[in-house]
Formats: sequence, structure tokens, C-alpha cells
Amino acid sequence: MSGETWVVLGASSAIARAFARLVARRGDGVILAGRDREDLDILAKDLALRGAASVHVLGFDALDTASHPDFARDCRRLAPGRLGVFLAFAYMEEQASVDAEPDLALATIGAGFTGAVSVLHRLAPHLEDQEGGHLIALGSVAGDRGRRKNYVYGATKAGLHAYLQGLRARLHRHGVTVTTVKPGFVDTAMTFGRPELFLVASPRAVAEAALKAALKGRDEIYAPWFWTPIMAVIKAIPERVMKRLDI
Ligand SMILES: NC(=O)c1ccc[n+]([C@@H]2O[C@H](COP(=O)([O-])OP(=O)(O)OC[C@H]3O[C@@H](n4cnc5c(N)ncnc54)[C@H](OP(=O)(O)O)[C@@H]3O)[C@@H](O)[C@H]2O)c1
Repeated sequence: MSGETWVVLGASSAIARAFARLVARRGDGVILAGRDREDLDILAKDLALRGAASVHVLGFDALDTASHPDFARDCRRLAPGRLGVFLAFAYMEEQASVDAEPDLALATIGAGFTGAVSVLHRLAPHLEDQEGGHLIALGSVAGDRGRRKNYVYGATKAGLHAYLQGLRARLHRHGVTVTTVKPGFVDTAMTFGRPELFLVASPRAVAEAALKAALKGRDEIYAPWFWTPIMAVIKAIPERVMKRLDI
């Protein structure tokens, strides 16, 4: 038992669920935050059985930024020891739908970037005050290179990656680690039924890699690791070639 209480943002995500189960087994406390309270109440019971020191459920909508100050205060109140943060939420639609409906582009950025910055900026002072702890956020390989088939979601993640770099430098001065986890393809609702997926990882493998990296104080990781060389190649493709590829 570490004395840590993790707020899991977007707790109904498959990767977030796997992460919550991991930390529950360590005997940590968990605050499940998301939009589907009924679903999270069921998960909360499961985590209690697995050994979580405490389990709470809080309503959280990334788009409702006005509610984030109170939400951050509630997190602080429910974490008797150190607060840890696991940010998992994001919104992704097919690029063709986003190209046809610009409001979907705004919704993608609103949840995955604006919403993320809003809630992390409210939680950051609490992390500074406690002088230690871990923040983990799920970025994506999609944020490393703009692609015709996923560029609005990719831009959201690229913005998040840059934001986390700055936040890392800010919180480092207070002993808090900030770990950006960039998964490749993961078998979750987000990718369900999508064609052209390869090297698909399990949510549990990504959650395990994320926790291990955070506890080691790693800044950024790809999950699974083999996306490191793959992304090195993809990042090296010249733009004049990239714009012609059907990816
Ligand atoms: N699956 C992949 O291949 C893959 C690859 C790279 C990165 N990732 C990242 O991994 C993270 C977890 O995704 P996942 O794959 O586990 O997919 P998922 O199961 O579809 O999870 C997405 C989560 O985001 C939540 N969410 C969406 N809009 C929200 C909002 N406005 N407020 C609060 N929560 C909101 C959803 O909540 P509801 O249940 O309420 O809709 C859901 O819990 C995401 O950040 C995603 O970008 C996934």
C-alpha cells in the first residue's frame, strides 16, 4: 500500500479500467471520474473486492469546464494521502465524419485538449502542494505525425503532448513526475470495428506499462515499446512523401 489515491479521469475507458484494477491490487485508493455513474458504481464494487484502500465515484465531463474547479477540490478532499492522476479520456470520430462536420473537430479538441488542460490545470496546484506523486496521461502515436486519416484527433494529442512537456517541467520542481504514454493500437471501444489495425495491444498491457513507467519517473514512453522504432521511421518520412501516402 503506497498511500496514493489515484483519480482516474475517463474511468470507463478500457485502459483506465485496467489501470484502476492494477492500483486497487496494490492497495491504493481510487477515485473513478467519468460520465457514466452507473457503470462506474459497478466498477467501484469490483475495485473494493480487489483490495483498493478506498473507492469513490465522481461525475466528470471534460467538456463541462465550469465544473472542473469544484471537481479538483473534491479530488483533494477524497485523497487523504498523495493524489495521483491518470488521464484517459479522449474523443475520436472517423476522419471522414469530422471532415464533413466541422463541429466534430471542435468536439474532439474540446474533450481531448481543452478539457484535459482545464482539469489538469485545476489539479496541478494540489500536486505542487503535496511535493511528490505521479501524473500519467494517455497521449497517442497519432500525436507524433499528422495523417490524412486522423489529423484532428492527432492534433489534439500533439497539443496534449506539448502541454504535458511544460507541465512536467513545472511539477518536476515539486517532486511530481509527469509521464506521457503514447499507445499504438489498443483493443478498446475507440478502435472497435476499425479496419487497418495492426500490432493491437491489450488495455492491460498498456496500463501495466504506464504504471511501471510512472513509478520509474519516466517522462515519455510508447506502449507497447515496439512503437518506438516504428514512430522513429514514421517521423523521418519527408513531408513531400507523407502527403502522398494513403495513411
Ligand atoms: N484505443 C487505442 O487504439 C488508443 C490508441 C492510442 C491512444 N489511446 C488513448 O487511450 C485513451 C483511452 O481510450 P480507450 O482506447 O480506452 O477508449 P475508450 O474505451 O473509448 O475510452 C474513451 C474514454 O473517454 C471518455 N470520454 C469521452 N469524452 C468525454 C468527456 N467529454 N468527458 C469525460 N470523458 C469522456 C469516454 O467516456 P464515456 O464512456 O462516457 O463515453 C471513455 O471513458 C484515450 O485518451 C485515447 O486517445 C487509445
